[in-house]
Amino acid sequence: MQLIDGKAVAEQVKQEIAAQVAAMVERGEKRPHLAAILVGHDGGSETYVAAKVKACEVCGFKSTLIRYESDITEETLLAKVAELNNDPDVDGFIVQLPLPKHINEQHVIEAIDYRKDVDGFHPINVGRMSIGLPCFISATPNGIMELLKRYNIETRGKKAVVLGRSNIVGKPMASLLMQKANPGDCTVTICHSHTANIKEECLQADIIVAALGQPGFVKADMVKEGAVIIDVGTTRVPDATKKSGFRLSGDVQFDEVAPKCSFITPVPGGVGPMTICSLMKNTLLAGQKAIYK
Ligand code: GUN
Repeated sequence: MQLIDGKAVAEQVKQEIAAQVAAMVERGEKRPHLAAILVGHDGGSETYVAAKVKACEVCGFKSTLIRYESDITEETLLAKVAELNNDPDVDGFIVQLPLPKHINEQHVIEAIDYRKDVDGFHPINVGRMSIGLPCFISATPNGIMELLKRYNIETRGKKAVVLGRSNIVGKPMASLLMQKANPGDCTVTICHSHTANIKEECLQADIIVAALGQPGFVKADMVKEGAVIIDVGTTRVPDATKKSGFRLSGDVQFDEVAPKCSFITPVPGGVGPMTICSLMKNTLLAGQKAIYK
């Protein structure tokens, strides 16, 4: 069994990005600029956004954090989105999800100029991805593809099972794994809360991507010997031994599953760091106007 070290790969990719940014600045080009909007004080969102701002520093990007209290109106948020769309200094921006219940997330996502949508959530980017056109690709699935590539994991002709059908992980993950590319060329099955016989589906899989948000869902008796296991879960579970009072739990019962795998991602330190790194990659592409002029 080989552990997939997402933290190490992410550090390496960020150094590669930083070198490209240094060369851009050397040539007199503009430093890429990422803006992030954070609404409210959700613990997870605070942590993720702080990590994104820090990663910008490492990559040599300019970053701007815009904060609102959770009682902000949708109208005010949409006005800020319009302002960022029109700000020539901002190359790309994100609105951290989830948003408070009174705000329609889809309205906000669709208000973002797709050319600055470095999260890859806008329907134009999602649509372009699904037919294999250049676009901003959703960060978590893109980070997973990068891990498969850098660990030389064979995907062609393999059976992949994606657990979870969210718009930001499950659906784009399935699209990328089935695309005519390397990595890609998988035969993909998506499983969800209404799938009959999830265990049998998993037992046939050469690659399992677990993105359900259910701690420890994937057990040893669901995994074929030699399978590749990618764990996207990051549920906060109470843990009195930790200073924070919680620990992150993946969707895979790591201790019992790991001995059966050829490759497995740990939680934390697997997919998580790659997600932020993919956002950095998209920001670099936005700054270079490499996808859209
Ligand atoms: N919430 C959880 N993951 C993400 C992400 O990748 N982008 C944004 N904007 N919000 C998230």
